[in-house]
Amino acid sequence: MKTLFSKENINNIINEISQKIMNNYKKDEEIIIISLLKGAFIFTADLIRKIDRTIIIDFMIVSSYGDKFESSNKIDIKYDINIDIENKNVIIIDDIVDTGNTLYEIKNYLLKKNPKKIELCCLLDKSQRREKNINIDYIGFKCPNEFVIGYGIDTFNKYRNLPFVASLYNEL
Ligand code: IMP
Ligand code: MG
Repeated sequence: MKTLFSKENINNIINEISQKIMNNYKKDEEIIIISLLKGAFIFTADLIRKIDRTIIIDFMIVSSYGDKFESSNKIDIKYDINIDIENKNVIIIDDIVDTGNTLYEIKNYLLKKNPKKIELCCLLDKSQRREKNINIDYIGFKCPNEFVIGYGIDTFNKYRNLPFVASLYNEL
């Protein structure tokens, strides 16, 4: 296991991202945060506590990787939001954007609910593997093409509790 992003690195980047979000939304604007479980739960919890705006939080569970190391094209929504996002500002938060298929599908799905705007926020960006041309509005770190774990990110549901991000294998 090799540490890629330390607790301090993550804390600093969260300060930067929260500042960018606050620059884009006025004091009285409400933001709906949709956090993708399970991977984004720790990142989301740390990030939203740094955003001094009115925040409404909801969650989705969609399967992408499952217990395999490969991403699938279509998503399967296992748990959906239960709040109304019509005419609202939405930010979707995920742990990693890899092929981009998951965020691409979720964004299209949520756009049908007529939000005012949807932005995307990811802690890690594996841009080398991108298949979908999607714009990520807030990105933490560029991530090498390695399998990573920690800070909410798992392999077979383990290692989510590590306070840093580490890579497990050198190659996929
Ligand atoms: P995408 O649809 O290919 O962009 O897949 C993104 C999802 O794949 C993320 O939300 C993660 O759940 C998962 N994923 C991608 N890379 C890794 C990794 O290195 N470790 C653990 N999960 C990963
Ligand atoms: Mg995920």
